[in-house]
Amino acid sequence: MWEYTDKVLELFYNPKNQGEIEETAEQNVKVATGEVGSIACGDALRLHLKVQVDTDKILDARFQTFGCTSAIASSSALTELVKGLTLDEALAVTNKDIANYLGGLPEAKMHCSVMGQEALEAAIFNYRGIEREVHDDDDEGTLICTCFGISDTKIRRVIRENSLITAEEVTNYVKAGGGCGSCLATIDDIIKEVQRESALPIAAPASNKSAVATKIAPSTLTTVQKIALIQKVLDEEVRPVLLADGGDVELYDVEGDRVKVLLQGACGSCSSSTATLKIAIEARLRDRISQSIVVEAVEPLF
Ligand code: FES
Repeated sequence: MWEYTDKVLELFYNPKNQGEIEETAEQNVKVATGEVGSIACGDALRLHLKVQVDTDKILDARFQTFGCTSAIASSSALTELVKGLTLDEALAVTNKDIANYLGGLPEAKMHCSVMGQEALEAAIFNYRGIEREVHDDDDEGTLICTCFGISDTKIRRVIRENSLITAEEVTNYVKAGGGCGSCLATIDDIIKEVQRESALPIAAPASNKSAVATKIAPSTLTTVQKIALIQKVLDEEVRPVLLADGGDVELYDVEGDRVKVLLQGACGSCSSSTATLKIAIEARLRDRISQSIVVEAVEPLF
């Protein structure tokens, strides 16, 4: 179960500002709407802002959200945060502000706060007639994660704004990489590029948090050490991503550089399982242990 703060639970059970704002004939008032996410991807948010035209002030904000506890709470927090602000002031609200208002969100649920910030931006850009994708960055973005339709522009932005240093964190914030996993290696590359560009702290390998999975020359490993290291990388860096998508992987055997695994759950029957193996698992093991590792799937005996 997720650990939610009291504020998250309060706004989930008694959300503030839920509903829509209908178009109005009031003088000097307009309604702006921004919509992000999709129900097919698990959550969607439509944000309505009532704007005083001559001052750009947000008179009211309401939301309609399909999603989990954190999505509802984040949407409600967003509306509370922006009421009374001007549109320019509201544009400065970040996903961190939303998470902070809630007293924090579970790391794996940070994408809900990102969704709120994006809906806010979408509503304001719609109001101002600005093409959002173009405004986002200097280019229109290249699609990186086909499972969730996430572009490199969005990934770069969330890395910069939240100082993310691992692909797992990117998955937590924008879901990219949380499906078949075939984009994880590309996300790693983007993280390195952003770090070079912005002089963020150089990414420690995800496993550096626990010290063991640093790259070790394979020739210095005994067979037992190598198996233990492979197991550790699978447990700490690969399985969390697969589990998030209803799959799993189990180490079956190691013969020299051939690593045999059993794919389970959604991964075992997924048409993307080959890509998951070759790119997500093999690339990760190669990066952490040895470039000569080859991953093979074995069929369960029953
Ligand atoms: S392409 Fe990114 S998770 Fe499948």
